Amino acid sequence: MWRTIFSKIFSANAVILVIFSILILFSSFEVIRQQYISTLTRSLASIADVSLYAIKPPLKKHNYKKLKPIIKDISEKTNTRLTIISPDGTVVADSEEEAEHMDNHGNRPEVKEAFSGKERSTSIRYSSTLEKEMLYLAIPIDDGKNIYGVLRASIFLKDIGDLTAVLKGNMIRLTFFFIIMALLGSYFFAKGISDPVRELSLIAEKVGSGDFNAKIHIKNSDELKQLGDSFNNMTEKVGALFKELKHMEAVRKDFVTNVSHELRTPLTAIKGFTETLKQTVKSSKPAARKESARYVDIILKHSERLINIVNDLLVLSNLESRKFKIELTEVNIINLINDVIKLFDDRIKQKKLKLRLSKTGSLKPIQADSFRLEQVFVNLIDNAIKYTEKGSISIEVNQDETNTIIDIKDTGIGIPKEHLNRIFERFYVADKSRSKKFGGTGLGLSIVKHIIQLHQGTIDVESRQGTGTGFRIILPLQLS
Ligand SMILES: Nc1ncnc2c1ncn2[C@@H]1O[C@H](COP(=O)(O)OP(=O)(O)O)[C@@H](O)[C@H]1O
Ligand SMILES: [Mg+2]
Repeated sequence: MWRTIFSKIFSANAVILVIFSILILFSSFEVIRQQYISTLTRSLASIADVSLYAIKPPLKKHNYKKLKPIIKDISEKTNTRLTIISPDGTVVADSEEEAEHMDNHGNRPEVKEAFSGKERSTSIRYSSTLEKEMLYLAIPIDDGKNIYGVLRASIFLKDIGDLTAVLKGNMIRLTFFFIIMALLGSYFFAKGISDPVRELSLIAEKVGSGDFNAKIHIKNSDELKQLGDSFNNMTEKVGALFKELKHMEAVRKDFVTNVSHELRTPLTAIKGFTETLKQTVKSSKPAARKESARYVDIILKHSERLINIVNDLLVLSNLESRKFKIELTEVNIINLINDVIKLFDDRIKQKKLKLRLSKTGSLKPIQADSFRLEQVFVNLIDNAIKYTEKGSISIEVNQDETNTIIDIKDTGIGIPKEHLNRIFERFYVADKSRSKKFGGTGLGLSIVKHIIQLHQGTIDVESRQGTGTGFRIILPLQLS
C-alpha cells in the first residue's frame, strides 16, 4: 500500500498538514497565554500604581493597622491580592491573611528585584500558601530617595486556565475541522494524480496485449491529460501500423501459396511427361517416335510457361523492391506504342484482327520510363489480342493540359462483372480454364498497375461480357 503513488502523495500531504495544524494549535495557545499574562501584568501594574496613593501615607507613619482595611478594600474591588513588605522582608500587611502569620518575603525573587530598584518585577510561581499558580507583580515604594517598602499585587493564574479553556475548545474544534479538511483535500489531490496514472498503466497493459482500441479518458486538463492524449495518439498509430503489418503478412503468405501452386502445375506436367517419354523414347517404332515428339512439345510448352512465370515474378519483385527507381526520359508516346504493335504483327494477321492507333491533336512528349511503359503496352495489347477472336483493337491517345489519356479497347470476350475489380491482383485470372488455354500467368495486369502507379498515373477497366473490354490509362505529363 505504501508503494502506490496515491499513498505516497496522500501520506506526505496528510502528515505535513496534520503536523502543521497541531503546531499552529499549540503555538496559538502559547501566544494567547502570553498575551493574557501581559494584559494581566499591565492591569496589576495599574492597580498597584493607583493603590500607592492610599498606601503611602499610613506606611510612612508605620500605621500598619490602618493599612489592612485599605488594601482589603482595594483587593475586593479589583479581585487581586495585595501584600506590603518592609525593607527587612517582613510582611506588614496582606489583603488575605494576618501579616503576623506570614513568612519573611525578603527572598521572593520579585520582591528582591523591587527592593533593588527595578520599576516592575514579575514572577509566576506556585503559591504554597494558596496551592495555586499565581502571577506576582512587585513595585518599589519610595519617597524619591529611599525605598521604604514594596507593594506586591498578585492574581490566580487559574483564571487564565478558565479563560483559555473556552478558547482551547474552539481552537481544538477548528483544528480538528482543519485536519479533516486537509485529509479530504489530500485524498482528492492524491486521487487526482494517481487515478490517471493507474488508468494509464491499465490501458498500456491492454495495448501491450494487442487491444489497440483501448483509449484513455482523463478528465483533468493538466500535463496528465496531455500525456493521455499523446498516449492515445501513439496507440492509434501503432494500431494502424500493426494492422498494415498483419495485412502485409497475409498478402505475403497468399503470394507464397500462389507462387508454389502456379509453379507446381507445370513442374508436375513436365515430370509426368518426361517419365512417359522415358518409356516411348526407347522404342524405335514410328508411332512411338511420333508420340515422343508430342511429349517433347508439351514439355517445352510447360517449360516456357515456367520461364514466363519466373520472369514475371522477377519483374514484379524488381518493381516492388525499395531500391527500384524509374528512369524518366522524354518519351514520344505514339512512337513507343507503334514499336510495341510491331511485335504483335504476326499474331494480329493470324487472328485476322484489325488494330488502329489514333491520336487527337499534336502530342507533347511525356515524362516516363520508356522501357517500363513498353511493358505496360506489351501486356495490354497481348491481353487484347489473346482475348479477342474477331473484330478490332483500337488504341486512342489524347492529351489535356496535365494528362495523357490512353484508351485500349477490344471487341473480345469481355470480363464478367464479378471479376472486374480483382483482375489487377497477382495471379488473378477471370477464368482458370480459359486463361490456361491462352497460357497466361495472371501476373501481367499487376505488373501493369505497378508501373502506372510508379508513374503517378491510374488505370481503370470497363468491360461487358461478349462485347469487349476497355482499359483507360491516365498519365501525368509532369511527375511531382
Ligand atoms: N482484354 C481482355 N479481355 C478479356 N479479359 C481480359 C482482358 N485483359 C485481361 N483479362 C482478364 O484478366 C485476367 C488477368 O490478366 P493478366 O493479369 O494479364 O493475366 P493473364 O496472364 O491471364 O493474361 C486474365 O486472365 C483475363 O481473365
Ligand atoms: Mg496478360
